[in-house]
Amino acid sequence: MPVDAFARELLDWYDAYARTLPWRGPPGTPPPDPYRVWLSEVMLQQTTVAAVAPHFERFVTRWPTVADLAAAPDADVMQAWAGLGYYARARNLLACARVVAASGWPRDEAGLRELPGVGAYTAAAIASIAFGQVAVVVDGNVERVMARLFAVETPIPAARPLLRAHAATLAPAHRPGDYAQALMDLGATVCTPRNPRCDACPVSLWCAARTTGDPARYPIRAAK
Ligand code: ADE
Repeated sequence: MPVDAFARELLDWYDAYARTLPWRGPPGTPPPDPYRVWLSEVMLQQTTVAAVAPHFERFVTRWPTVADLAAAPDADVMQAWAGLGYYARARNLLACARVVAASGWPRDEAGLRELPGVGAYTAAAIASIAFGQVAVVVDGNVERVMARLFAVETPIPAARPLLRAHAATLAPAHRPGDYAQALMDLGATVCTPRNPRCDACPVSLWCAARTTGDPARYPIRAAK
């Protein structure tokens, strides 16, 4: 896999087709406020983009900064969270806002990982999208893209470390936040679980699953 060409094709595609989402600036613009990146990533942990968008808008209108959110009464935040589910996330959200309002944002992945409710995925996403750091951002979409690019025959979940290693070999130093979001968008809009649109894929040239003729077979799932 030509790593530089891969990142270049993916970023060119992102510049043309990035989804417009309320927590992102247009591709290639300065990184968004870490507060907006963090809030969106926590909301997106177990909830779809479509369900998150209106809640996100309401939150940032009502609490424009992390200090505003930190100062909010618990009950107001829990009420505003209604509809997103998994209320432990809302409790962690407030705990995290209060730590950050007092101490500022940690600037690297390891520091971010220490925050309440921030796991490996979320820490990597914030480090790359908000702080422009190289990080390996792997969610379910990215796992599917990697499983197909490399035609990984090991079933999920055993394949997870390998899928992550593949993602790490491809992660570029240039525009890491846009690259991370480009992979997510590719998985959500082109490299979809069923009926992937390989004809619209900017990296299909390098996709091992495409040459098998049945890309939707990947990722392989362990038999139940
Ligand atoms: N899913 C999780 N984080 C996302 C992001 N930043 N953009 C699009 N989809 C996402």
